[in-house]
Amino acid sequence: MSVERVRIFDTTLRDGEQAPGCSMTLREKLRVAKALSELNVDIIEAGFPAASPGDFESVKAIADENFGPVICGLARCNPNDIEKVYAAVKGSEHHRIHVFVATSAIHREHKLKMAKEEIIKSAVGAVRMARDLCNDVEFSPEDASRTELSYLAEVVAAAIEAGATTVNIPDTVGYTVPGEFDRLFRYLKQHVPGIDDITLSVHCHNDLGMAVANSLAAVAAGARQIECTINGIGERAGNCSLEEVVMALKTRAEFFELDTAIDTTRLYPSSRLVSSITGMHVPRNKAIVGENAFAHEAGIHQHGMLQHASTYEIMRPEDVGISRSNLVLGKHSGRHAFRDRVRELGFDLDEFEANRAFQEFKKLADRKKDVYDSDIEAIIMSADSTSPGPWALASLQVNTRTGEDAEADVSLQGEGGEESRGTAQGDGPIAASFLALEKATGVDLVLRNFEVHSTSIGEDAQGEVTVAVEHDGASYRGHGTSVDIVEAGARAYLEVINRVLRRAQSNAAPRSGPGDASRATI
Ligand code: KIV
Ligand code: ZN
Repeated sequence: MSVERVRIFDTTLRDGEQAPGCSMTLREKLRVAKALSELNVDIIEAGFPAASPGDFESVKAIADENFGPVICGLARCNPNDIEKVYAAVKGSEHHRIHVFVATSAIHREHKLKMAKEEIIKSAVGAVRMARDLCNDVEFSPEDASRTELSYLAEVVAAAIEAGATTVNIPDTVGYTVPGEFDRLFRYLKQHVPGIDDITLSVHCHNDLGMAVANSLAAVAAGARQIECTINGIGERAGNCSLEEVVMALKTRAEFFELDTAIDTTRLYPSSRLVSSITGMHVPRNKAIVGENAFAHEAGIHQHGMLQHASTYEIMRPEDVGISRSNLVLGKHSGRHAFRDRVRELGFDLDEFEANRAFQEFKKLADRKKDVYDSDIEAIIMSADSTSPGPWALASLQVNTRTGEDAEADVSLQGEGGEESRGTAQGDGPIAASFLALEKATGVDLVLRNFEVHSTSIGEDAQGEVTVAVEHDGASYRGHGTSVDIVEAGARAYLEVINRVLRRAQSNAAPRSGPGDASRATI
């Protein structure tokens, strides 16, 4: 069986991060970029540098780390965008400029107000300029799937002639269906001169739930690059999910006769990382990485599984990085057992991080009998996102009584040992503690979203709280974990308050995110 390679182009940090509520800090983006390189993706689209100074800085920081994969930045067809991408990505040994312009009649008439010829001219000029700066240039005709086929072929031919080395065909609004997309790719293969000399790519959105199916139809018809995101995060219903499309190619290799370079055992840790950072929870029944993806409840299935796993399992959990044992640790577990477990879960901690995580594990094991894998993951993630101050939670006391306002009394300790207290009443214990924290710190926030999830099972399971807030037109997200969900909420809120205060102190540039008014959108 001859097996060809399909490149995996990850756009979690660009198209994924563009989704409401998914914006990430620079530090979080660096963590995700490192995880993507451990997953062995071929290309990381790190952002859209012209969108805001924060976006530029984060693409540059990722490129300068030289993690290994090609680092790519997105640009509209104008010199400023293209120069900004080049300046941001050039620090990476392997870099790419990705230019795009919309081509469908709907976009031409209503968005761009440009004639067909003007669009071709703009695409050609942009690709030529990008090629003068960099050997690796990708061109995307936005809304390709709703563009007249003959015109699409003309645009693609012109981009190839101008020097594009990859041509990406986006189903921007998730409108196409597999049979139709198959015809589109075969049409381009037949009618575009030079198409066999470049890499043909596919980029699907999930509005009708067909992003993965459409991407697979495209590769069956000749595409050799798939653009996708971890957990399928992205605009509206999201993008093609990386873990699903990769495992479909692997599991049905005899059908597709294609392969990727992905280390599939890193899929689950990458999924957990992105979910924890963005606060976008993975549904239990999500293919590949959902909690139930490898759970067998029905007796007849369990019986079959005991006879032979292949009766009801087409993939092995360990192939995607899920451990079968889900070993439980407790307060008598030692440092070695803890570190082994951390390593098996796919985390690579240095000495300092490992010691800090072990201390947190010990504290947790005192409060809860069984410590599960998901608890350990939560410890590591929250250690990473724990903000360094200025305020730390010293104590929190909350009184509630049915039918009456709750009362919270919070005490904080500052970096120099100073103390601050706040007391407040609110509709419930969470509202009262958030108000008390605002009083203690003098920071007023507007709460936009509050989510709480249990990290494991049992009565003493930990609650993981994610809050999304606004302050001075900027958006922030914070996380907190505790066996007490009110405390978890307070920790998440305090994390955000600390970030606001640090930003005010350093007068740093605004973080990228939907709340950043200076951020351009596509
Ligand atoms: O969905 C889309 O069309 C895009 C392009 C910019 C590639 O994200
Ligand atoms: Zn897109």
